[in-house]
Amino acid sequence: MAFVTEDNITDLAVKRWATAHSPRLAELMTSLVRHLHAYAREVGLTEQEWAAAVEWLTATGRVSDDKRQEFILASDVLGLSTLVVQLNHRFSPDATPATVLGPFHIDGSPTAAFGADMSDGIPGTPLFVTGRVLDLDGTPLPDVVMDVWQADADGTYEAQLPEIDEARLRALYRTRADGTYCVRTIAPRGYAIPMDGPVGDLVSRTDISYFRPAHIHFLIDHPGYEKLITHLFRQGSAFLDTDVVFGTKDELIVRFAEEPAGPCPDGGTIDEPYLHAEFDFVLQSRDDAGGPRS
Ligand code: BEZ
Ligand code: FE
Repeated sequence: MAFVTEDNITDLAVKRWATAHSPRLAELMTSLVRHLHAYAREVGLTEQEWAAAVEWLTATGRVSDDKRQEFILASDVLGLSTLVVQLNHRFSPDATPATVLGPFHIDGSPTAAFGADMSDGIPGTPLFVTGRVLDLDGTPLPDVVMDVWQADADGTYEAQLPEIDEARLRALYRTRADGTYCVRTIAPRGYAIPMDGPVGDLVSRTDISYFRPAHIHFLIDHPGYEKLITHLFRQGSAFLDTDVVFGTKDELIVRFAEEPAGPCPDGGTIDEPYLHAEFDFVLQSRDDAGGPRS
């Protein structure tokens, strides 16, 4: 082996990582080594800065557990999560676009009937979200399970609350025979990402706005169709232009119409004013998928 110099260290490290047993792992690791070395050269990385970075990574690992995922948050604020979504979900322009999953999804939500209230007494302005789930030809899709979750009016998700033993602001809805769905909940509000950890510490040393605009999360994984993970954003809400995790897309911004007390979209009546958002989700069939770059 050649002895190490500043000039040959990158080639030596690349050669070593090229021995990975899987060709894909070899590609991932050799490219990572090249980019890391180029970064260190470009910024002239000092030993103190590298030690601070290692300390930050260690702290990020320390605060992460099965409820809090600080590494996902780091990837979100760096724009990397959104880039990976873009690379892997190149849907037709007519399909509903995907956006970030975020760290607060919980598996196994309870099922909810058409129009059932997933807010279950949590204070807030009543909101109905209605529409259809369609394929790219406009055909309504029956029996599609829609996994829905959101934060409360203080911007807190169930996953951030210790010792909650009932599902809170999350449910699984199902489209009817004509492809229609009706979610009843409360209006979401914009909220700050968790700022009490290493990611917040870093963000607070910049002028970056650390808020997300008001939104509701949807996950639709229907057989034969590309899995869709997306949000609906409230039109006119603060932070649409500055979403700290780069999640906002024009096609996902929806008007929340103000309606008076009276008949409401679930077919019943409501005794207070409410909001109504209408949105058709369009799924791309697996056969039409572009997929990641090959
Ligand atoms: C969310 O929308 O739940 C979220 C996404 C990324 C980072 C923090 C929160
Ligand atoms: Fe969210």
